[in-house]
Amino acid sequence: MALLDIDDLSVTFYTDDGPVHAVSDLDLSIDKGETLGIVGESGSGKSQTAFAIMGLLAGNGRTRGAVRFDGQDILGAAPKVINRLRARRIAMIFQDPMTSLNPYMRISDQMAEVLTLHEGLSKRDAVARSVEMLDAVRIPSARERISLYPHEFSGGMRQRVMIAMALLCKPDLLIADEPTTALDVTVQAQIMDLLGDLQRDLGMATILITHDLGVVAGFCDRVVVMYGGRVMEQGPVDPLFARPAHPYTRGLLGAVPRVDDADARMVAIPGNPPDMAAPPEGCPFRPRCGFAGDDCRTMPPLVAFGENRARACQRAVERVTA
Ligand SMILES: Nc1ncnc2c1ncn2[C@@H]1O[C@H](COP(=O)(O)OP(=O)(O)OP(=O)(O)O)[C@@H](O)[C@H]1O
Ligand SMILES: [Mg+2]
Repeated sequence: MALLDIDDLSVTFYTDDGPVHAVSDLDLSIDKGETLGIVGESGSGKSQTAFAIMGLLAGNGRTRGAVRFDGQDILGAAPKVINRLRARRIAMIFQDPMTSLNPYMRISDQMAEVLTLHEGLSKRDAVARSVEMLDAVRIPSARERISLYPHEFSGGMRQRVMIAMALLCKPDLLIADEPTTALDVTVQAQIMDLLGDLQRDLGMATILITHDLGVVAGFCDRVVVMYGGRVMEQGPVDPLFARPAHPYTRGLLGAVPRVDDADARMVAIPGNPPDMAAPPEGCPFRPRCGFAGDDCRTMPPLVAFGENRARACQRAVERVTA
């Protein structure tokens, strides 16, 4: 049984201008210990998928479908059940550390609170465990620095604190939403290395949400490519990057500068992502796709092919990867 199993999930936001279809008919699963990347341009529904899993959607958001964690449906579960899962089994790291760190509390108090509240530890034991976790995320002099406030840390160090906090209860599933985009490239690489080490040590399943295909290639076993709230393509990282089977994936890969190519230039996909309040009929990528035809006015189903791969496009793979 998969650790997390998302079945036909849709997320709709109700606004004064009408409904916004942020996520549509999404199927996705992740096994224990697996690393899954979710990639796609801005607005493709990556974060809202994560928020739906975490029960953190904005008040105007509604879901349809099922999200099962360890076999239990958590979309329809009582807040008490979700809170418990969120505290102990599923953790999330946000792009901006200040969304999860309280600026007015010392790190020691914020971290210890997680453990006294959810694991019943004494304050003393909780602080000791927190120091160990700060050591694990390689914060120098953790024992002294744990009594500082968040603003007394640099951006990279704050991100480490947040990772330490997310991992305090040793979750089975970690969702990291753009964990490094706010940081400079060197620090990004250090944080990703660190996350990789911790992921292996703790054996936790990880969903990594990012724009950065390079990061996915280095970190993930499998990748899901989203566009317009839908899965365009998914499969194991290496074959998918070597032979993308969806025109959108090809476009995304074309937008990645190659480090081994001196003339490398970013080639962005022409056009803009769709307005999800008025999405195009059929495949959302159709208006930007060089391969589109009239048959793309109906959304093609996600069809399995090859080894554990699937794509939602009716064009022949050969033609697409030519
Ligand atoms: N509360 C809301 N009300 C209306 N629309 C919303 C709301 N929250 C998100 N959306 C819309 O849902 C869609 C998907 O947003 P989402 O945050 O999942 O994008 P994303 O893929 O994470 O993008 P980014 O890479 O920029 O973080 C977007 O069109 C966004 O404007
Ligand atoms: Mg996002």
